[in-house]
Amino acid sequence: MCGIVGYVSSNTDAKEILLDSLKRLEYRGYDSAGVALIDGEGRLQVFKKAGSIDSLKETLPEIKAGTGISHTRWATHGVPSDLNAHPHVDCTGKLALVHNGIVENYRALREELEGKGHSFSSKTDSEVIAHLIEEMYSGDLLEAVKGALKRLKGSFAILVLHSDHPGEMVAARQESPLVLGKRFGKIFAASDPTALLAYTEEFIFMDDGQIAHLKGGNITLYDFDLKEVKPNWQRITWSVKDAEKGGFEHFMLKEIYEQPSTIHQCLQGWDEEDLSWLRPRSLTSVNIVACGTSYHAALVGKYVIQAFSGLPTQVETASEYRYSPPTDYSSLHIFISQSGETADTLAALREARKRGNETLAITNVMGSTITREAHHTIYLRAGPEIGVAATKTFTSQIIILYLLALWMGVRRGRILSEEAGRVLSELKKMPRVVERILSREEEVKAIAEGLKGAPSMFYIGRYVNYPSALEGALKMKEISYIHAEGYPAGELKHGPLALLDENLPVVAILTSDHTYEKMLSNVGEVVARNAPVVAITEEGDDEVLKYTEDVLYYPPVMPILSPVPIAIYTQLLAYWTAKFRGCPIDKPRNLAKSVTVE
Ligand code: F6R
Repeated sequence: MCGIVGYVSSNTDAKEILLDSLKRLEYRGYDSAGVALIDGEGRLQVFKKAGSIDSLKETLPEIKAGTGISHTRWATHGVPSDLNAHPHVDCTGKLALVHNGIVENYRALREELEGKGHSFSSKTDSEVIAHLIEEMYSGDLLEAVKGALKRLKGSFAILVLHSDHPGEMVAARQESPLVLGKRFGKIFAASDPTALLAYTEEFIFMDDGQIAHLKGGNITLYDFDLKEVKPNWQRITWSVKDAEKGGFEHFMLKEIYEQPSTIHQCLQGWDEEDLSWLRPRSLTSVNIVACGTSYHAALVGKYVIQAFSGLPTQVETASEYRYSPPTDYSSLHIFISQSGETADTLAALREARKRGNETLAITNVMGSTITREAHHTIYLRAGPEIGVAATKTFTSQIIILYLLALWMGVRRGRILSEEAGRVLSELKKMPRVVERILSREEEVKAIAEGLKGAPSMFYIGRYVNYPSALEGALKMKEISYIHAEGYPAGELKHGPLALLDENLPVVAILTSDHTYEKMLSNVGEVVARNAPVVAITEEGDDEVLKYTEDVLYYPPVMPILSPVPIAIYTQLLAYWTAKFRGCPIDKPRNLAKSVTVE
């Protein structure tokens, strides 16, 4: 996830407008930033830098320009560095481009363009677009962009400038957001309207497959074949303050709502070439090490890796890892950390390396310490997570674990590639499934209102949803301050049942698989002690209504994939309970986003 802004005017304030608007998109990424301007003499000037927008600002000279583009980056291909920062330029230095998205076929395109003599200065997927447009360019920028788009696979929102065409810009969108705005002859483009609220209230939300030509105070909209399309102008009256959180009251809620797109992005960014070093047939086992929410994702991973690849899998809390005996060298060690900076996880990683194990990091943050210390890294591509409670990165972590388990399973001959393909196509439906759950937020809210006075809660689940119970309870306790415990449902009768009464709500997670009957009996045990039950179960489950009216239904999914939709419900439940209790949701007391002490 990155943020982009464009501006076309006959004024000389492009630098100030671009930096101010970009600052409002900093939540989309903040590891590097850049700006390209066409100055008064018609020259293209590019300034870019690893680090924050503020630090870029300090280095910029006085420059009067009417047209420009800017970018704030969240690295997905190529570490954060000056060279990898956007805008990217072509070989002539006349064309500049900013990009948000992922070019899936960038390796093949780069090879082809290098073969034709193009010289690249970054390691990004985005730079290929600049050279591709250069390759197609023969005086008409719009035609050149159109030609280049036909060759791209993946997602993109791009803004393109060319010094032969001062006062012009071309914008295009495919699966990454892009809005256009206009006021008093000035034209704006940005990743979301919040960047531009200080300047305009009138927006065109570009659709997938559209190109826009911004010139002479006008916007002309086309499809990818340059057939003109009628723009649909919309008015947005959010305040600039709302804007930082995209109109949501808290980053946590915004991040919960981002999950259809972060899951999509995670699936899209999966690249088997990143695993070319891994020999699944030579592995004897897998060890996964993590903390907190990442540990819960690891527990889901354990069931999934065992189910798909047959590899015995152990999960260890990072702070306990050093106390366990060394494993043999043919065990793959996976370290999961959203931030890539968690001290306990890094200490465990260092210990594993000392013991001679091959290590794989799964993280969200490019350039983080874990990526420098592990032998190999896979990225979540979820964009910055600002709320202290992890939400969107949890679902991305488990998506990566599904993909990894399937990949290993096929190579180990444990599942047929047709079967893996079937699971994969079910995974690809997840963004839609999550959207349907988000559309039921009101039902969650009603249930959360009933929970707000609870002194304590239990979450119960079995098999792949035992970790869902742990994660649900963690979300609830950290942001609502209600004491909550997750249990394997079968464990209640071994002690915790003693605590149940009408004041202790139990969230029961049911799945339509071999665990269903046993879970239903456990729900019966809870109800028999007068404890209120909130059930999360699959659509069509009427049996559970015999025990409780508080039921949250998720759309039918392959049972092993159910932790994804269930996580959305438990996140929303925690969010709304905390909200009703008036808690400081994005910054719970005593907690930090990145825990850099052991
Ligand atoms: C809970 C939460 C924490 C983190 C944990 C590990 O919502 O966010 O439990 O999961 O501190 O952090 P990372 O994944 O950055 O290593």
